[in-house]
Amino acid sequence: MVLGMAACVKDAPNEPVLPTDEPNPAPNLPASLFAYSQLQFPQAWLDDPALQLFGGLGSDVEVTDAGATLGRVLFYDASLSVDGTVSCSSCHQQEFAFADPAAKSVGVSGQPTLRNAMGLFNFRYQRRMFWDLNTVGLEAQVLQPVAHPDEMAMPLDALPEKLQALEYYPPLFEAAFGDAAVTNERVQSALAQFLMSFQSYSSRFDAGLDNDFEGFTTQEIQGKDLFFNGVTRCNQCHSGKNLFSTQAFINGMEIDYAAAGDAGIGALSGAASDDGRFKTVSLRNVGLTAPYMHDGRFATLRDVVDFYSDGIQPHPYLDERLSVNGFGVPGQEPYQLSLTEEEREALVAFMHTFTDTVMVQAEWLSDPF
Ligand code: HEC
Ligand code: HEC
Repeated sequence: MVLGMAACVKDAPNEPVLPTDEPNPAPNLPASLFAYSQLQFPQAWLDDPALQLFGGLGSDVEVTDAGATLGRVLFYDASLSVDGTVSCSSCHQQEFAFADPAAKSVGVSGQPTLRNAMGLFNFRYQRRMFWDLNTVGLEAQVLQPVAHPDEMAMPLDALPEKLQALEYYPPLFEAAFGDAAVTNERVQSALAQFLMSFQSYSSRFDAGLDNDFEGFTTQEIQGKDLFFNGVTRCNQCHSGKNLFSTQAFINGMEIDYAAAGDAGIGALSGAASDDGRFKTVSLRNVGLTAPYMHDGRFATLRDVVDFYSDGIQPHPYLDERLSVNGFGVPGQEPYQLSLTEEEREALVAFMHTFTDTVMVQAEWLSDPF
């Protein structure tokens, strides 16, 4: 840049400097690669019996430093979209734990997506992707948004050639895979490797688990007790260290989800018992991933808590944990927690302690362009 300007001034002082039609700046990558392959969950996670089980069910992707580095570039590169305007990071933003702050995302078509873009992290423990769990494994997921007409609308058969023509890609593919050939399988692998590096286990909640919640306020402690006390039953679905379930549940936001426009797994299976069954997303980083639920219907965590307290609908297959009797036959009378004002605020305050302090700022996960 500086050299170019100097040359320009010296050779032709009176010529206007015309904007050059540069397609894409090269990514700004560190001289020695980030050690993605060394990233590891803490021992307490690896030893956790429940998570060990989920680990076995999680995405199984081998991560190399060069592979994830290529994935990082691909994730942030709008060249993967048909018109060069949308990247994965348009809808999955690091500062929001890779969620979209909009209820529905907008890609190249301008048509909003069907559902809310959730946060992305801890795929080691997740095998099934999307709110309706319709895709098994990260590698099977990552090209779907690239091709989707409302997201990046890129014809997949034209993708390798397009990337090959950008001068920064061949060396990155060579470093990752041994030669410079660009293939969609390699794009899949690299993106999956990068996503596997979105690991979230550093929050005030985690510190609290180690030090008996020393730094917690009285309100946060009250919220923690409510979350785990067995009365709210929050932790019976959002469970374990990752505060999630690999299963999908019906949490009673509608009496009839199909009629309301999105039956979730019910739209795939056609079964009434799946109407409104959606992925039980992790509550990690939930303070950053507003708005909430598969359709982004709740703007704030307080709205979510108000819903669980007073708003559960008498869905015929309502999950038993959200019914008055708890375990038993599903579809019973909805639970009415009727939490006090103080309890609601305490639950909200507690959920804010799930916010990651490392992943959302990690340079190795940031935009290299
Ligand atoms: C136009 C917005 C948009 C773009 C661009 C986009 N996504 Fe998404 N992403 C979404 C939405 C919306 C969902 C939820 C869709 C659903 O579940 O039905 C989602 C879901 C996902 C999931 C599933 C996560 C889970 O927990 O089940 C992954 C993984 C993901 N996206 C990765 C990517 C990658 C990689 C790219 C780029 C190649 C990308 N996304 C581009 C909007 C987008
Ligand atoms: C029966 C299992 C179940 C119970 C009990 C439960 N949840 Fe959920 N939760 C879910 C499911 C399933 C979703 C996603 C539903 C959807 O989007 O349609 C969800 C979504 C959420 C979300 C939104 C997450 C996001 O990123 O959009 C929050 C926050 C939440 N629950 C908090 C709680 C709290 C607090 C409690 C206790 C008061 C609780 N949950 C009890 C199953 C449950």
